[in-house]
Amino acid sequence: MVHQECINCKAKYDIDEIVYFCKKCGDILEIKFDFKELAQTLEGSDWKTKPLSVWRYRYFMPIHEAAHVVTLNEGGTGLHRSRRLGDEVGLKEVYVKNEGENPTGSFKDRGMTVGVTKAVELGARHVICASTGNTSASLAAYAARAGLKCTVLIPSGKIAYGKLAQAMIHGAKVLQVRGNFDQALEFVLKLAEKHKSVYLLNSINPFRIEGQKSLGYEICEQLNNVAPDRIVIPVGNAGNISAVWKGLSEFHELGFIKTLPKMTGIQAAGSAPIAQAIKTNSNKIIPVKHPETVATAIRIGAPVSWKKAVNAIRESHGTAETVTDEEILDAQKLLARIEGIFVEPASASSIAGLKKLVKNGIIGKDERVVCIATGHGLKDPDTAVKQCEKPIEVDAEISAIERALGLRSQVTMAFAR
Ligand code: F0G
Repeated sequence: MVHQECINCKAKYDIDEIVYFCKKCGDILEIKFDFKELAQTLEGSDWKTKPLSVWRYRYFMPIHEAAHVVTLNEGGTGLHRSRRLGDEVGLKEVYVKNEGENPTGSFKDRGMTVGVTKAVELGARHVICASTGNTSASLAAYAARAGLKCTVLIPSGKIAYGKLAQAMIHGAKVLQVRGNFDQALEFVLKLAEKHKSVYLLNSINPFRIEGQKSLGYEICEQLNNVAPDRIVIPVGNAGNISAVWKGLSEFHELGFIKTLPKMTGIQAAGSAPIAQAIKTNSNKIIPVKHPETVATAIRIGAPVSWKKAVNAIRESHGTAETVTDEEILDAQKLLARIEGIFVEPASASSIAGLKKLVKNGIIGKDERVVCIATGHGLKDPDTAVKQCEKPIEVDAEISAIERALGLRSQVTMAFAR
């Protein structure tokens, strides 16, 4: 039987109980399956004939059979072999899993399709989240799709313009909190505890993690049922690295893959409590009071799923690394210019981390590595424009355009001869 379980004291809760933290010890929850039962269901099903997407894995999701699925066609994103990036960093086989190809432009849609489907199943009418941007954009879209009221709390002035535009156009009530993400999250946690009529869809909600675990499944299926040697992934609130690891562990448990990758989390230097804990071999994180980075999506000082993330990294014999804003922006430009993949700064942190870890000899040159690009570059046009050369303004004349391009006109050339 599928149920919710505390990651610490293992207390069990029904999947239809609305509970965000363990009532006994206060820790966070995860969804647990009975693998024998799941294997049996899968054997008699046609799941392998479905297209690559979150809902290919319908039976791996803790959703009742009769559920009305709220979907915009998420998942099934490209796993792009990136030869020029490999040459640049010194690796033979690198792939970029481009989550910017999802309906609202980030991996959050994988979690929201399942989370909002669950919300509808539970009879919720009002959904809420705190967000650095992408979660709010995604929740706003899925709430619109399901006809639910949506409220999002964002840190004032610190979210990228594209994401704000998405939340607003989808009709969410947008509250800009004069504070950072960590404070906004505390408020929504309190609100959801206090007002049972609002359903919380931050990544402590284990149903969101279930959707996001499909990212791990897809990577293995795209590599012909083999796990890569390593997955490099940006870490903010730490839900996604935990989700990907959960997916991989489940595929392993079910016998679909024989090996597991080293989970490698990348944080921005100014917001890196998890990387710090890994580097100092600590069992606790020290929250960063004033997190700062150009990668606003991962500007988070007190990641709520830190325990799951630290566990994923340690269990998989992976590691964590920090990257500076300069390294992030360089990596963003590099990926856009040599692979044609435009990602937002937070996503570029995985590329920056890859570069650093190969250079330092932590990632071996023969490793098969997948970098997760978590969100589309158009989410944050301002940061992109700021770091590029300005467009050249020219008169509306062919000669002016030729001059700007350094092309000599035909007439001049004829004269020269
Ligand atoms: N990359 C992007 C583009 C993100 O938006 C986020 C998180 C992450 C990476 C980190 O993922 O939190 O699961 O470790 N954004 C959240 C938000 C916090 O509110 O949109 P994580």
